[in-house]
Amino acid sequence: MSVDWGHVFAGRVSGMSASEIRELLKLLGRPEIISFAGGIPDPDFFPSAAVSRAYQRVFESNSGAGSALQYSISEGYAPLRDWISVYMGRSGLAIGPEEAVITSGSQQALDFIGKLLIGPGDLVAVTAPTYLGALQAFSPYEPRYVNVPMDEDGPVLAAVEAALAQKPKFLYLVPDFQNPNGITVSLERREALVAICAEAGVPIVEDAAYAELRYEGESLPPIVALDAARNGGKPANVIYCGSFSKTLVPALRVGWIVAPAEVVNRIVLMKQAGDLHTSTINQIVVHDIASEIFDSHVRRLRVQYKERRDAMIAALEEFAPQGVTWTKPEGGLFVWLELPEGIDGTSLLARAVQEFNVAFVPGSAFFADRSGKNTIRLSFSATNPERIREGIRRLCELVTLVSA
Ligand SMILES: Cc1ncc(COP(=O)(O)O)c(C=O)c1O
Repeated sequence: MSVDWGHVFAGRVSGMSASEIRELLKLLGRPEIISFAGGIPDPDFFPSAAVSRAYQRVFESNSGAGSALQYSISEGYAPLRDWISVYMGRSGLAIGPEEAVITSGSQQALDFIGKLLIGPGDLVAVTAPTYLGALQAFSPYEPRYVNVPMDEDGPVLAAVEAALAQKPKFLYLVPDFQNPNGITVSLERREALVAICAEAGVPIVEDAAYAELRYEGESLPPIVALDAARNGGKPANVIYCGSFSKTLVPALRVGWIVAPAEVVNRIVLMKQAGDLHTSTINQIVVHDIASEIFDSHVRRLRVQYKERRDAMIAALEEFAPQGVTWTKPEGGLFVWLELPEGIDGTSLLARAVQEFNVAFVPGSAFFADRSGKNTIRLSFSATNPERIREGIRRLCELVTLVSA
């Protein structure tokens, strides 16, 4: 007799499904395909020399190598947490070590937040669309979702208020150049969100993965800083997730949470149970690189990615047929297209890959209720400007064909 695994899996496993993006990425090895699908940084932009120097420094230091290869505390490497305190301080936050914990990427932070806050059947408010990886992180904890539509300034306030009236456990947001639609929550909207969520007693989970990648316009304060400004400089109602993946390198898997000490204490317990701690040596290396080049490297990234964003917007202006609209993100890695009603992004993808050698992600993947069929997400991050123009030309040719 053999095990019937389907029978043995816990009920919550039914809430877990393979990411459409990851499944798709497997198909995109063919060099003739121009892929706007991944949304990953361009490896040519990684600060590889700085990473290499940082590892060398660890191994050249007599005392350093042993402790860098050793287990370490779940809260995270103290100098890195100090660096994060100073970094967050730039936005006016006055956090101490008890309000920050290092995670293995911000993806792990989202999992811990789900574990901490969501019980089976609990409501979670998410924007529509939202980050697919957040839905994947939360869904195993068996929430129900309430969708909050967005306009060009962020989540629509009347919809947030309606969602808050249903007492969700939290509101999850990517306020800067959101993955997937590139929208940034305006300052006025941030302030309103902080006020109405505090009033309703509902926490905000702020995912700041792209906050540093701004190509134009003024930097906006993180929501956690607006929350702290109302509460003596300390986070009170917001859990903030930060990441070095988009500013330095994703492979080291280093991110962080800033939250009220009460929340951080619980997250540290989850960290102990989950993976004991984030890789000691990687935290040391990230601290070393961040101290050496964070600002100069981010400045360079902004120039490099801006060129690509501009190329994508220019190509859309040149080639897009009537009835197609797109966002013009001030930063981040994504442009969001709305196609004429009746065109389905998933069917379009199959033809795009097979006949036109161009790929993207169907927008419905980013809606908790799988709506948004006529939307698609394009990432300009890993393709050079000439290929971006050619890829957009091909995509627009296909859209013209199917809209006829
Ligand atoms: C909005 C958002 N949050 C979190 C993550 C996870 O990033 P990481 O775990 O590498 O920090 C991503 C990755 O693409 C993302 O787009």
